[in-house]
Amino acid sequence: MNQLLKLSDFSVSFTTPRGDLHAVRGVDLSVAKGESIGIVGESGSGKTVLSRATMGLMPSTATCTGSVEFNGVPLSDLSHAEVRNYWGTGMAMIFQDPLTSLNPVRRIGSQLMEGLIVRLGMSKDQARARSVELLERVRIPDPYAAMKKYPGELSGGMRQRIVIAIAIACTPELLFADEPTTALDVTVQAQVLELLAELRQEFNMTMILVTHDLGVVAGQTDRVVVMYAGEIVEAAATKDLFANMKMPYTEALMKSIPRLDQSSGQRLRVITGRLPDPTTPEPGCSFAPRCEYATDKCRAEKPPLVTTQTGHQYRCFFPIGGSL
Ligand SMILES: Nc1ncnc2c1ncn2[C@@H]1O[C@H](COP(=O)(O)OP(=O)(O)OP(=O)(O)O)[C@@H](O)[C@H]1O
Ligand code: SF4
Ligand SMILES: [Mg+2]
Repeated sequence: MNQLLKLSDFSVSFTTPRGDLHAVRGVDLSVAKGESIGIVGESGSGKTVLSRATMGLMPSTATCTGSVEFNGVPLSDLSHAEVRNYWGTGMAMIFQDPLTSLNPVRRIGSQLMEGLIVRLGMSKDQARARSVELLERVRIPDPYAAMKKYPGELSGGMRQRIVIAIAIACTPELLFADEPTTALDVTVQAQVLELLAELRQEFNMTMILVTHDLGVVAGQTDRVVVMYAGEIVEAAATKDLFANMKMPYTEALMKSIPRLDQSSGQRLRVITGRLPDPTTPEPGCSFAPRCEYATDKCRAEKPPLVTTQTGHQYRCFFPIGGSL
């Protein structure tokens, strides 16, 4: 398979008043053209920082080390201006926060047309016509009227469809979708996921779907990468992961998936304990303080990332079901 994205020993830290905060640590990840990857982990595990840093969208307080290759080009060696050339057509992102990803004081039409004019060099008329097509494609009723509206005049689900239309406007090769459905209610979530799957096929896009919910990646991805405290702790083909999960952390995430038979209002089972403080890395396994299987070895030594013959990776001394 042709490789589109390759991260090697990729780390991101932030300078903070409390010291260096290690948000992403030593990530190795290859994504093939056409693949759909899920990145899963609880809040604070580094999913958004990993995605944004890959695209070169980091504040000046961030330090990135290691390498990012896109289509064989080492982006990490390019200037910020050169990396920007990849935005829109090479890589695009559906940002996590639906409220801030659209400008509230600009009409939908002008926000959609901007990328088409700036990145693809379209004339205003061409960009307008293409924007209407895109709105139709993401199933916005009456696209001509929607072009003239402001984001605040639309529902959350409709706004997310607009955000998707903007992200795919320049037909990016790689689309990051950062929690694309978290802010939406359950029925709208399913429709948005279905739309993303259709668009991925139609535009032949590679997708990285970022979510805290293992249930979301189940039907949407070829491969799942589980992150904990900035590191990859498990990665496998989606079917293999669900059939044969190895990490106690992945198992705990699995138990926290909301189920349809749970009555609404019932509290979800959450993983007890908290993520370690990212400014003071633990000596042993970072999950040890919360892991029901932890031993003294886990607290003293850091487990390496093991890769099995089938390509299943995990970072645990005592994997569930024994070693593969
Ligand atoms: N600009 C920043 N400056 C300092 N620390 C940051 C910054 N952005 C993120 N962090 C820290 O980096 C760590 C990873 O954050 P990140 O947003 O990637 O988590 P996440 O997995 O996307 O979580 P969520 O599910 O809540 O979106 C967290 O400890 C967070 O506080
Ligand atoms: S290495 Fe030990 S503490 Fe870490 S996940 Fe495995 S069993 Fe739990
Ligand atoms: Mg996030």
